[in-house]
Amino acid sequence: MGIQAFLLLMAASLAEAHFGIEYPPMRANTLGSQQNTTYSQWTNPCAGVPGNLTTTPPTPWPLTGGSLKLSLHHPWTYLFINLGLGPDVSNFNYTLTTPPWNSTGNGTLCVPRLALPAGLPVRDGTRASLQVVTVGGDGSALYNCADVVLREGAEVLAGGECVSSEGVEVAPVRVGGAGAEGDAEGNAASSVRGGDMAAVMSSVVALVVVFVLGMGG
Ligand SMILES: *[C@@H]1O[C@H](CO)[C@@H](O)[C@H](O)[C@H]1NC(C)=O
Ligand SMILES: *[C@@H]1O[C@H](CO)[C@@H](O)[C@H](O)[C@H]1NC(C)=O
Ligand SMILES: *[C@@H]1O[C@H](CO)[C@@H](O)[C@H](O)[C@H]1NC(C)=O
Ligand SMILES: *[C@@H]1O[C@H](CO)[C@@H](O)[C@H](O)[C@H]1NC(C)=O
Ligand SMILES: *[C@@H]1O[C@H](CO)[C@@H](O)[C@H](O)[C@H]1NC(C)=O
Repeated sequence: MGIQAFLLLMAASLAEAHFGIEYPPMRANTLGSQQNTTYSQWTNPCAGVPGNLTTTPPTPWPLTGGSLKLSLHHPWTYLFINLGLGPDVSNFNYTLTTPPWNSTGNGTLCVPRLALPAGLPVRDGTRASLQVVTVGGDGSALYNCADVVLREGAEVLAGGECVSSEGVEVAPVRVGGAGAEGDAEGNAASSVRGGDMAAVMSSVVALVVVFVLGMGG
């Protein structure tokens, strides 16, 4: 096989491993042939897409949390979803996935309502950004962000619009070692950094509950 064909194949397999946020729409396309080549999903916190970009308006999201729809291209991946408050967020210091999730299957994953933490200091009109991080079994992380504006009257996606592909499901990962459970979960809570991830992953013990999201919803 020629070097060109090889590079094409490499590019194709790399592109396949990336992921997209379908709803709320990502801040900018970091996927596929239309993407701005200065962006890379390997870049923390938002694939290199600046927080002050105004090309994609923030999506209205309910104050208690809204729908999230991802397009996943891995056979399985760990999933961390974090939230930052403000119009130009660099600090994603609220986690929406404690413990993190293990997502199996490639295709669409739709979460009908991703609940925001109780007591979050938000009101009608608060700007926020979601950070979605996928982490492979080898610890490598990919990042994407989507911007929202929390709104009193905003609604979640209708049932028919929020359907996961067959075989795509998530299960919470059980984290925490002897006596350090709270700490381990606290680590998982902040946005993912290389060192933290190693700690989280080495303390993964077992899965607690297995559930399927978006099925028949
Ligand atoms: C690509 O992204 C950079 C940084 O956000 C921006 O300055 C530039 O205008 C973008 N180019 C296109 C073609 O969108
Ligand atoms: C957006 O932020 C970048 C740095 O993060 C800055 O260089 C740029 O001037 C900002 N653009 C606007 C329009 O504020
Ligand atoms: C994703 O699923 C499609 C069809 O279900 C399959 O053809 C493809 O090989 C899968 N990709 C990966 C990376 O598992
Ligand atoms: C999160 O970060 C924001 C802005 O940096 C700060 O105002 C807020 O107090 C932080 N919240 C927590 C729980 O750390
Ligand atoms: C996550 O799911 C994959 C595929 O089902 C599995 O191989 C892996 O062991 C799981 N990880 C954990 C921590 O359960």
